[in-house]
Amino acid sequence: MIIVLKSADHPFSKGTIFVTRFAAALKGTLLGIGLMAAFGASEAIAAETVNIYSARHYDSDELLYDGFEKATGIQVNVIEAGGPELLARMRAEGRNSPADIYLTVDAGNLSIAEKQNVFQPVASKILDARIPAPLKSPKNLWFGFSTRARIIVVNAKKVDPKLAVSYEALTDPKLKGQLCMRSSTASYNLSLLGGMVARLGAAKAEGWVKGVVANFARQPQGADTSLLLDVAAGACGATIANHYYYVRLQNSKIASERAAAKALTVIFPDHNSVGTHVNISGAGLVATAPHKTAGIKFLEYLASDEAQHIFGNANYEFPAVASVPRSKELAALGKFKTDPTNVSLYGQNQATAQMIFDRAGWR
Ligand SMILES: [Fe+2]
Repeated sequence: MIIVLKSADHPFSKGTIFVTRFAAALKGTLLGIGLMAAFGASEAIAAETVNIYSARHYDSDELLYDGFEKATGIQVNVIEAGGPELLARMRAEGRNSPADIYLTVDAGNLSIAEKQNVFQPVASKILDARIPAPLKSPKNLWFGFSTRARIIVVNAKKVDPKLAVSYEALTDPKLKGQLCMRSSTASYNLSLLGGMVARLGAAKAEGWVKGVVANFARQPQGADTSLLLDVAAGACGATIANHYYYVRLQNSKIASERAAAKALTVIFPDHNSVGTHVNISGAGLVATAPHKTAGIKFLEYLASDEAQHIFGNANYEFPAVASVPRSKELAALGKFKTDPTNVSLYGQNQATAQMIFDRAGWR
C-alpha cells in the first residue's frame, strides 16, 4: 500500500526523504516517474486526494495519514523533506504546485512560510472551537496541532534545581560555568527568544541572553538529546531542551538512556509566574491548493480526538486540544502552566532574536 522512497539518510533538517503513498495497483509502475506524475496518477484511481508537503519526520505520522484515509476515503500523498527544501519546491512549482497542505514543526518555521505567502486563511468552525487561540495564526493561516514545552533540565549533583526555576534564573552568577546550550541558529532557541522579546521587550531579552552566555560551560554545540546526555553525565549542570527528548530517554529501549533520564531533574520554567514557553507542530492550507475542500478536511481531522491522540501522544508531544487526555508518559511529567504568548510572535521576532544572540556571542 505504501511505497517509501528515501533519497538520503534520515537527518531531521538536511537531505531529502520522499514518502509517497500509492494504491497497491500502481506499485512498481511509478518508481522514477517523478512526484508530480505520481500525484497525477494516484488521482486517476482515487475519487479524492490530498497532497501533503511535510517537514515532520516521525513514523507516527503514517498513522495520521492512514486514519484520515479510513475516516474520509480521501487518499493521502506525502512528500517529506526539510522545510527550506519544501518551501523552495513550492516556489519553483508556483501556481501549479500540487501541494494542498504544508506541515512542519516550530511556529517560527510556519511564520517563515507565512511570509512567503504559502498559506491561505481557513474558515472552519471545528478548528476555531478546538485549537486554542495562542496556538494558531491570528489570521487562521496555520494551526498548531501539538505542543512542545522548552524545559530546563539539571543534574542535581551539580546544580540545585531551586536555582533554575525560571529562564531568568539561568542568569544567576551562581550558575557560572554550568550551562551547556544549543546553537542560537536552532529554530527552537530562536522561538524561545522571540517569545521573550514579545513578552519582555528586546532590551530585557538581550540582558537575559548576556546573562546566560556569561554562565556557559562551553561554546554552544549539539542538539537537545546530546545536551541532555551531557548534563546527565555531569559535563555540565543544566541545559534547555524540548520536553519530548527527555521523555524519549525515559522510555528508551537503551538502558544507558533510561539511566541518563534518571540522572536528570526536569523543571517547567516559570511555572509560578508567566508559564513555560511552548512551541507547536502545525499545518496550513496552501494558497494554491488544488484540493481545497480535502485540505480543510485534513486540517479538521488533525484536530479530531483520534488524530490528537496520535499527533500529540505518539511522539510524546502534548495534544493541542485541551479536552484530549495526555498519554501516561506525559501525564507523569505533571501539570504545568504554559506561557499564553501567541506563538505567531515567535516568527515575527525571529530576526530580532537572531541579532540579539549574535551580539551577545551565543553562536
Ligand atoms: Fe525536535
